[in-house]
Order: sequence, then C-alpha cells, then structure tokens
Amino acid sequence: MKAVSISVALAATGLAFAAPEAQAAGSLNLICSADVVICEQMTADFEKESGIKVNMVRLSSGETYAKVRAEARNPKTDIWWAGTGDPHLQAASDGLTLEYKSAMLDQLQDWAKKQAEGSGYRTVGVYAGALGWGYNTEIFQKKGFKEPKCWADLLDASLKGEIQMANPNSSGTAYTALASLVQIMGEDQAFDYLKKLNANVAQYTKSGSAPVKSAARGEAGLGIVFMHDAVAQTAEGFPIKAIAPCEGTGYEIGSMSIIRGAKNLDNAKAWYDWALKAEVQSRMKDAKSFQLPSNKSAEVPKEAPKFEDIKLIDYDFATYGASEKRKALLERWDREVGASAN
Ligand code: G6P
Repeated sequence: MKAVSISVALAATGLAFAAPEAQAAGSLNLICSADVVICEQMTADFEKESGIKVNMVRLSSGETYAKVRAEARNPKTDIWWAGTGDPHLQAASDGLTLEYKSAMLDQLQDWAKKQAEGSGYRTVGVYAGALGWGYNTEIFQKKGFKEPKCWADLLDASLKGEIQMANPNSSGTAYTALASLVQIMGEDQAFDYLKKLNANVAQYTKSGSAPVKSAARGEAGLGIVFMHDAVAQTAEGFPIKAIAPCEGTGYEIGSMSIIRGAKNLDNAKAWYDWALKAEVQSRMKDAKSFQLPSNKSAEVPKEAPKFEDIKLIDYDFATYGASEKRKALLERWDREVGASAN
C-alpha cells in the first residue's frame, strides 16, 4: 500500500523512473528523401547534438508524398527532409504539411525563402541542384559513342539499351526531368521526345540517383540524374562525366516540411531549425552530397555544379508543383511511356 502511494506521488510530480536525458528529449520520425549516406550522417549528427532519438526512413520524393497523403488521418511521420520541391509543394497545397516560420529564414538564399513564401510557409528550400546526366566515359569510348551534350543526342539509335532514368511517379528527380522537358519543348513535343527516348531506356529505377550509380558500375552507359549525383560518382573514383544539356535544363529546390499532425512537433521544429544552419549544411559535402546549400553562409562545395555555368530554365515551381499538374503529367507518362516500358 505504501509502495503504491509513493509511486503515484512520484508520477504526479513527473519524477517517476527519472528519465535519462535522451528519453526526456524524446524521439523524431523522419523521412529522408536524399541519398542514404547523407540521410545517415544528418541523423547521427542530430542525435548527437540534440539527444533526440531519430527513426529515419529513406524514401524517394514521390513515394514520400504518397505515404504522407495515405497517412493524413493518423500521421506516422513528423518531418520530411530533402527530396525535390515539387512533391513538397503538392503536399503543402493539399494541406498535408504545417505552416512554420523558422527564425532561420533570414539566413537563407532568396530561392529558398521564395519556396517558403510560395507555399504559405509549409515548406522551405534546403538545397538546390541542376538536372543533367552522367555518362561512363570508358563505355562510351570503347563502344565508339560520341559525347552526348544535348537532350537530342540521347535519342541516337546507337544508345539503345544504354540509358537509365527513374520512374517519375516514385522519383522527384525523374519528375523534374519530365517537367523540365515540358517547359523546354512544350507538352506534346516533350511526350513525343520521352516516347522516343523510351527506345533507348533499359530501366526505370525507383530512386532518382540509381541510374548514375549503375552507369558508374558499368551496368548502363548513362543515367539521367541531378548533376551533383553524377559528380558524386566521379568523386568516388568512377569514370563518370557530368553533363549540363545544351538546350537548357531544369533544377530542383530540395525542400523540407513538417507533417500536419506531427506527434513530436517540438522535435520536428528542432530538426527544422538545425537543418537550416550554415554549419550543418557545410558538412553535407562530407557525405559527397554536392548540392548548393540554402543557408547563405554555408560553404559551397568545390565539386558542386555551379548554376552560372549551366543553361538553366526559369523552372515554374508554382505550376509544376501544383497538385493537378503533377497528377496529370504523371498519368500521361504512365499511359504514353510507362505502359510500353521495357
Ligand atoms: C538525390 C539527390 C537529391 C534529390 C534526391 C531526390 O538524392 O542528391 O538532391 O533531392 O535524389 O530523390 P528521388 O529518389 O525522389 O529522385
């Protein structure tokens, strides 16, 4: 009887089973849509610096959007870090993510702030990167292919079976490719192009960077990916050369959003503010993550493909991140390209 009343009294004062620090700090459920190596580095660093236990899952951008949408009534995720901006914007316009004005916003590049303003502060830019491809110079040399400098060059009949790209339903990288081509060529011409390209595509992967990893290992000749993902393979010592397409290309604003209904909201905000810090973004290069950081004071990796050297289109994030547009383009891709994929 006495023992019971003591534990009740302790519980009432919140002192029962006096929790160690990590337990007091609680946990955070994170979906990470960048490469697994940077996802693991960020997770480990945050755990060490905050004492908060992170349950991290790596999922591609489109897959994450679908999961967050499916779980809207009972969210299992608190925060979604990285991945291309369009699905983050779509989640924002669907009301799946939470408005949050971080005190860190002032430290960010204009493009990152614009991403926040355009979404009613339901998402924010964490990095940027241009789309292009990486090709295996040894394979190209051995087979006598010429350097593919332009989107048009990827249709050359000699490249049959040599190209990989991701599926734009699961991958934000591939959706960026689809939306960029639509903006460069016009929608009908872009689908015509993608149908012709399909003849040269050996495989549509789930994740966006997988194609250039296959090219690095010699399993494909070329992967359509973000240029920084190609450069990462070069930095690993593989014979991969990154190309910025001659006709022009699109880019991503990698983003971050807090999930509406997050069970660990304070911890989600702690991650959000932390991930926007200059010193945290400066460390991304240690994981060979060579995007352009969104914090103005973060160190730009010397390997990062610079926007001034690339012919960039004025990517229309409002239009191509809108729910109806993304849905319509993906349905058309499934019908006209995916259905006849090898
Ligand atoms: C790679 C890139 C990121 C990009 C992400 C998108 O990890 O380094 O910059 O945001 O791909 O992944 P996904 O699988 O959705 O194309």
